[in-house]
Amino acid sequence: MLSREQLDQLLGDMSLEEKIGQMIQLTGYYFTGSGGETGPASEMRIPEDILKSTASVLNVTGAKRLKEVQENYIKENPHRIPLVFMADVIHGFRTVFPIPLAQGCSFDPQLVKECASVAARESAAAGLHVTFSSMADLVRDPRWGRCMESTGEDVYLNGQMARAAVEGYQGESLTDEGTIGACLKHFAGYGAAEGGRDYNTVDMSELSLREQYLPAYREAVKAGTALVMTSFNTVNGIPASANRWLNEEILRKEWGFDGVLISDYSAIYELIFHGVAENEEEAGKLAVEAGVDMDMVSPVYGGTLKKMAEEGRISEELIDRSARRVLELKNRLGLFDSPFRSEKWMEREEEIMHCECHRRTARKMAEESMVLLKNDGILPVRPENLSKKTVALIGPYARSRELGSVWSMFLQEEEVVNLEEGFNNAFTEDSDWMGIRLLVEEGAPILDPGEELTPFKGPILVNDWKEKGIDREEALARAVKAAKEADVVILALGEHKQYSGEGASKASLRLSKGQQHLFEEVNQANPNTVVVLFSGRPLIFPEIKQKAAAVLQAWRPGTEGGDAVARVLTGKVNPSGRLSMSFPKAEGQIPVYYNHLRTGRPAQEGSRERFVSTYRDLDGEPAYPFGYGLSYTEFSYGSVSTNKEEYGLMEEIQACVVVENTGKIPGYEVVQCYVQDMVGSTARPVRELKGFKRIWLEPGEKETVSFTITEEQTRMITGKGTWETEPGTFRIYIGKDSRVTDNFKEVIKR
Ligand code: GLC
Repeated sequence: MLSREQLDQLLGDMSLEEKIGQMIQLTGYYFTGSGGETGPASEMRIPEDILKSTASVLNVTGAKRLKEVQENYIKENPHRIPLVFMADVIHGFRTVFPIPLAQGCSFDPQLVKECASVAARESAAAGLHVTFSSMADLVRDPRWGRCMESTGEDVYLNGQMARAAVEGYQGESLTDEGTIGACLKHFAGYGAAEGGRDYNTVDMSELSLREQYLPAYREAVKAGTALVMTSFNTVNGIPASANRWLNEEILRKEWGFDGVLISDYSAIYELIFHGVAENEEEAGKLAVEAGVDMDMVSPVYGGTLKKMAEEGRISEELIDRSARRVLELKNRLGLFDSPFRSEKWMEREEEIMHCECHRRTARKMAEESMVLLKNDGILPVRPENLSKKTVALIGPYARSRELGSVWSMFLQEEEVVNLEEGFNNAFTEDSDWMGIRLLVEEGAPILDPGEELTPFKGPILVNDWKEKGIDREEALARAVKAAKEADVVILALGEHKQYSGEGASKASLRLSKGQQHLFEEVNQANPNTVVVLFSGRPLIFPEIKQKAAAVLQAWRPGTEGGDAVARVLTGKVNPSGRLSMSFPKAEGQIPVYYNHLRTGRPAQEGSRERFVSTYRDLDGEPAYPFGYGLSYTEFSYGSVSTNKEEYGLMEEIQACVVVENTGKIPGYEVVQCYVQDMVGSTARPVRELKGFKRIWLEPGEKETVSFTITEEQTRMITGKGTWETEPGTFRIYIGKDSRVTDNFKEVIKR
């Protein structure tokens, strides 16, 4: 590691061009001649002397290739400053885990940390140094395609998950091989884009920002994230990449973040499109003065900072400050000592990738993140209940290997265990299943006719039924026939992989018409139909919710998805996922989330009063609420007790409850602790998650589960605009999901 003095010396020896070079990240195109060019990046007009000093490359991987790029680069660099290689490893590198929205449903931060450390090991073996993860954007709008990258709608859950991910990626020290730097994103409030339309305006009170949207980012900063990325959106009128209040006041001064602040892809250039900068020079000045240290793939910093500094229009100290932070990042990553960083791991790249141990972690997360939404008793499917000895696996996801997401750029689809293979594995692993037939029919494609021709330039949605010459009516008929022959139907439906992720906002959250029709036909042929949903967001499926015998939300479960689904449905695994995001009943309800304010006219669930906060044509309750999920067993909760009835303003309090497994099957329960501040100088949410614990209970077993609610956890934005706890009455709820109403204890803070 270089000492402070050595870094000072290095900075002092660098020319203005070289310092500006440290503030630029380019796509691999300039070093490997490959890698897509999108947006302004393709018109880069960066002078050669700055271009060759660029600090970083994004989304190029492979130990051999990156070693070559680094060797060639350092040879040409007068100060032998190494490149830093960054990429989007969002939910796994080659071993792909469930999407973060699913991982949030595990309520298992320890497992999230383990997944991140596996992703780090594989990424480091592929020569990477930094991942653009964890994404801690709070989401309440499932129309936004990127809700899949978040861990959900709750500030506390998101904070726990963001911290776990950063710790998993970065390990004990970033000089350790097999670790990678984390880049927290998108700072800030990107998930609140108006209308759920990507990149759209974010406008909210400072109270909402500070109570709901910022704390999870802060947890990641406290965990030591090496970088933070600015978001595309405006925050109260100023785009994040030009927002000095966000970046200098909050991130740097209040939170003490001293790492690298990198812009999102071409976001600095887009300040012009936002209309806050006349031209590239103005954009560059705004961003560098707002503390953005690195310009991701835009021509602005490389094309304007030199001239503006030489003409005194920006202070060269700002350039020194940012260049120094980038050098410190490289130093923290150990790149000056070892430009290849994880050489021993890179030598074993193929051996490490997707190894059995990593796959076991992926399967465990997939099993823990699936949420059983409905079960009329048909699940688990057991061979002794199959008189016809036949299971029909039907639907476009019956054989699909697209169980990753648009961010699974390094996934190799042939390594994905699809549902058919998952069931065949389950049947062969257990002799009880000997002789059970599995009939497999796709029944319908994912997309409706015409959807394939995407109305936008982006990736073309693919339905190869035309090429395969598959006739839709014939396929449907085969599926109905299989349903009739089977005891139970597993109907695997869902949205197209391209329908979630970046640039994938949707106004309708329904399944395609073809898939809805397939459900109606199959369910009519055999009412013992279990629907498995694959999606990157909460979908809306009222007919399925009403008529299916069971519904399992499988999300986008990653490379081990097929095995995980089969093991859950056959009872090898008792489902324990709990929703990290509410499922609306209709698009018109959005946003619908659990920790809303009471309003002056709260609507009681089921009431048909007119003059209350609800709809005339629907109620305001979600189809499935935050924290909800079923198990194959039942758990009972005793009354909440606390160690005090009254306590001091600055004191913490303990609350506990006895939980019992009153069913016949062992399993995990996610015990959730919510707090309601009954009266505040600003209106308070009806519930706020303050703790959760996953506990394993054998049938008949009981456990006392306790939570400590700290003083910091009851702080709020007061009517005076301060951040503090107020005295008053609090209700402490402990239950199985956010709808817990009758199991609480009232305590008084003096
Ligand atoms: C994208 C995304 C961001 C990603 C970055 C680099 O536009 O907004 O999440 O990390 O660019 O690919």
